[in-house]
Amino acid sequence: MILDSILDGVGGTPIVRLSRLFRDSPCEVMAKMELCNPGGSVKDRPARYIVERGLADGSIPCDAHVVESSSGNLAIALAMVCRLRGLRFTAVVDPKISPTNLRIIRCYGGNIEQVTEKDRQGGYLETRIECVKQMLRERPGTVWINQYANERNWQSHYHGEGEEILRDLDRPVDYLVLGVSTSGTLHGIARRLREAWPQLKVVAVNAAGSVLFGAPPYPRELPGIGASRVPELLRRDEIGDVIHVNDYESALACRELVKHEGIFAGGSSGSVIAAIQRLCARLPHSARILTILPDRGERYLDTVYNDEWLSRMRDRHLEHNPETSLNSTIGQAA
Ligand SMILES: Cc1ncc(COP(=O)(O)O)c(C=O)c1O
Repeated sequence: MILDSILDGVGGTPIVRLSRLFRDSPCEVMAKMELCNPGGSVKDRPARYIVERGLADGSIPCDAHVVESSSGNLAIALAMVCRLRGLRFTAVVDPKISPTNLRIIRCYGGNIEQVTEKDRQGGYLETRIECVKQMLRERPGTVWINQYANERNWQSHYHGEGEEILRDLDRPVDYLVLGVSTSGTLHGIARRLREAWPQLKVVAVNAAGSVLFGAPPYPRELPGIGASRVPELLRRDEIGDVIHVNDYESALACRELVKHEGIFAGGSSGSVIAAIQRLCARLPHSARILTILPDRGERYLDTVYNDEWLSRMRDRHLEHNPETSLNSTIGQAA
């Protein structure tokens, strides 16, 4: 296969049956490997789709300066896409950004605008958005991607993973279990699959401590899923169950994934695996379950795959769940 550019390598990701990890379960669990995308994550899809559609309809002029408030996968994906499309890109980040991500964005040629002042909530979200708005006011030609409200976010997954799943699977799945942050991935895939499989049950996986579904906020460290505000794109009525998974449970499941399946994945992949383990344990019958694994493990070497960090998260887990017996409910660290 010869591609005209690395962007043509976005998508077309394989689906893997997790038959080793779920060997003792009556459920069939399959995972679409979004971590195989060239920029390292599922966010390559909205980055490419939003920029290319925007260039095609003129909402992103060909000399635009693209800006987004993101310190993670979307910023990396946009830096890659903008590099190839000849656009300037600035990621608005805060001091919590990982040094690795900062360096990756710069390697792709992206600029960094780092806010330093905390907002009224004690976080940086409002300050980052204010910084974006100031750039829009002061620098003509600046275009804001705004992934939390951009309809092209979910549409990229509808035409992307949604279409590919229907092409690759010969029969319906019972459950779609996906992590949520902007909700673009979940809504895009679920809307496409439901057109073909109306009985599909959609389960959202949220980070414990995230406010997406109305729970009170508390500290969480893993990036990827969860949010500190409710996105404009989120439609609660299109989602069935919500399963909350904390940082410790996510990291343990990541370690099980690499141990049993040889898949070295990021924190939110562990979150969906932990949620599926919980779902399988309470189902009275076997089921066919599909998830996606959003990003690779390298960006999490200092967290998920670091034993000191894991032990801090274990202490925090026990503090919030004093009744939990670690051995019986979530297994042991690999
Ligand atoms: C690693 C990872 N997993 C899951 C998600 C959730 O995707 P969405 O924003 O489409 O809900 C994200 C989004 O940033 C992510 O980076």
